[in-house]
Amino acid sequence: MDLSSASDKPIIIAIDGFSGCGKSTLAKDLAIALGYIHIDSGSLYRSVTVDFIKRGIDVTHKESVEIALSNIDLHLALINCASNPILNGVNISEEIKSPEVAQLVSEVAALPEVRAFLIEKQRHFGKSKAVIMDGRDIGTAIFPEAELKLFIIADMEIRVNRRLKELKDKGIDVTREEVADNLEKRDRIDSSREFSPLRQANDAIVLDTSTLSREQQLQKALEIVMGVVNGKT
Ligand code: C5P
Repeated sequence: MDLSSASDKPIIIAIDGFSGCGKSTLAKDLAIALGYIHIDSGSLYRSVTVDFIKRGIDVTHKESVEIALSNIDLHLALINCASNPILNGVNISEEIKSPEVAQLVSEVAALPEVRAFLIEKQRHFGKSKAVIMDGRDIGTAIFPEAELKLFIIADMEIRVNRRLKELKDKGIDVTREEVADNLEKRDRIDSSREFSPLRQANDAIVLDTSTLSREQQLQKALEIVMGVVNGKT
């Protein structure tokens, strides 16, 4: 497949979906194939959660949350076209993956103060196009103008298996039940919160990754991307 027009006519690609559907893996693979940058917006919410855990912030206490946010030093650094969260000068890419963070992150992400704090950090990356951002509200709230919106779905059992393997590969000891509970809990909070809930954008294309290998997902997504890029005026 000739991908050169994707760099001649760069676009914004928004990838949303439930937890553990493979959004970040697909976004990463697409970014490498297209020469775009990949921004994992979940890493920002996870980083704020790391900060709140370290400071012992009570997330139900509005004032403590506001004070913590006014003191936070967080940005994304691009390393090999991928975003790495830097909190107080330290790269916390690995720390954000812990089960402790996964347990609290959706409650933190539901806070309007946290969402407002992170909006500009995300939108900033859309200015030069050639960006793939994955998350929950990218196509609906962060880049409603994105030229391509993908909504990724996968069967629950497959999502649990993939997340369990990912954690085990990192040497993190969790049970199947804990992983399933966490995915269900995050789906529930993410889709029912008041501010920027997880929704499929009206103009999103649904991609079911349940029966697709990593390579097949990439090929399917590339066909969709090139269709959009080549159909562009
Ligand atoms: O994508 P990831 O699983 O790392 O995201 C962690 C959590 O961050 C999600 O469960 C959700 O609560 C929150 N999130 C969000 N909006 C985004 C990305 C992530 O609310 N755009």
